[in-house]
Amino acid sequence: MKIELLQNSRPLFGTISLEGDKSISHRAIILASLANGTTRINNLLESEDVFRTINAFKLMGVEIEKKGPVYVIKSKGIRGLKEPKEPLYFGNSGTTARLMIGLLAGLPFNSKVTGDSSLTKRPMDRVILPLKEMGAILSSQGRDMTLPLTIQGRQLHGFEYTIPVKSAQVKSALLFAGLLANSATTVTELAQTRNHTEIMLKEFGSNIITEKHAITIKPTDSLIAGNLFIPGDISSASFWIVGALIVPGSHVRIKDLGLNDTRTGILDVLRKMGANVLLEEITEEAGERTGTLTIKHQPLKATTIEGDLIPRLIDEIPIIALLATQAEGTTIIRGAEELRVKETDRIKAIVTVLSTLGATIKPTEDGMIIKGKTSLTGGDVSSYDDHRIAMMIVIASLITNQKVNIDKLSSISISYPRFFKDLKQLTE
Ligand code: S3P
Repeated sequence: MKIELLQNSRPLFGTISLEGDKSISHRAIILASLANGTTRINNLLESEDVFRTINAFKLMGVEIEKKGPVYVIKSKGIRGLKEPKEPLYFGNSGTTARLMIGLLAGLPFNSKVTGDSSLTKRPMDRVILPLKEMGAILSSQGRDMTLPLTIQGRQLHGFEYTIPVKSAQVKSALLFAGLLANSATTVTELAQTRNHTEIMLKEFGSNIITEKHAITIKPTDSLIAGNLFIPGDISSASFWIVGALIVPGSHVRIKDLGLNDTRTGILDVLRKMGANVLLEEITEEAGERTGTLTIKHQPLKATTIEGDLIPRLIDEIPIIALLATQAEGTTIIRGAEELRVKETDRIKAIVTVLSTLGATIKPTEDGMIIKGKTSLTGGDVSSYDDHRIAMMIVIASLITNQKVNIDKLSSISISYPRFFKDLKQLTE
């Protein structure tokens, strides 16, 4: 099926607040389910991926209900979790899968986990191998240590481990396993990745210490329930930020936005490209920096994106690539080989989509090279059933001079169900 995207060259204009950050939402559900007592969560992201995490805990006996705008989670704590009577289905959610595998490995019961056709192809050896070093019993039914996975939960022991991939999901899986182990665990990262797990573990009262890139967690079985507000998702905001920069006349304000330094790589890149990024009303909510961001249309220049910046903007690379097609000069993205193992091979998807739309873009092993500024034409493109590719295509269609047809848009509900509502609000 082909869906014709509305060409909409009207400027993006106005002030919006976004639904909660996806990474923080997963962690909030996990920690609230592990804490003894009642946790209330405001501005939780109500997307498919987050519902997978919610469902997993419901199947383990946690009470999770929405009351008005607030999610109320009542749990009897770690020791109160029950063996799930059916396999846990994680759909498309890599975060649910990796974080939950870490946790389930250390719980005193057995479980089976699986996912959709994308998730069952994604690498799980990155969590399976270190968890086995902690004593976990995991057996994969997939080829190459992929899902489905059977987990025989048992008492794990702490360990010291340097994570060979730059992945917050792996780090978080090992920290959750460490929480349940019988001695301290220290994980060391090669580069700083998003640190929401560390921040939230601290907020819930766990014994966790970060020293440079090494994080040590000591086991505990009593976490403290509390109230949380989840800041707006900067990965979702990036579509409006780039939209505003490339559609003439645009001026957008985004309130209550998560501005955790481990996630704001895109803002550093924008500044390097010459953009004026205004941040105001900065506060801290449960250890997470939040604020209001204002951005306007303006011409930009190309840049190089590499090194420690990559993990701080990994999910924003599809939309940054679109931006680079509209910047003067050659933008180089390197060291982003992790894109090859996301919901789809994003290097291939980005390059195929943008070249079909008339951009000058070449793939490399670990990134891409984009020559701008090119006007975008139009054409028939695939979203690869990947939410971030689909949303990038919709934003691209705002500036194409011909029609864009896309095969599918349904994946957008994985991370941003309100996307079209917010687009309408900003363009009407
Ligand atoms: C996430 C970590 C990143 C990111 C993903 C969410 C998380 O994945 O791409 O969308 O919430 O921890 P990796 O850990 O695989 O880099």
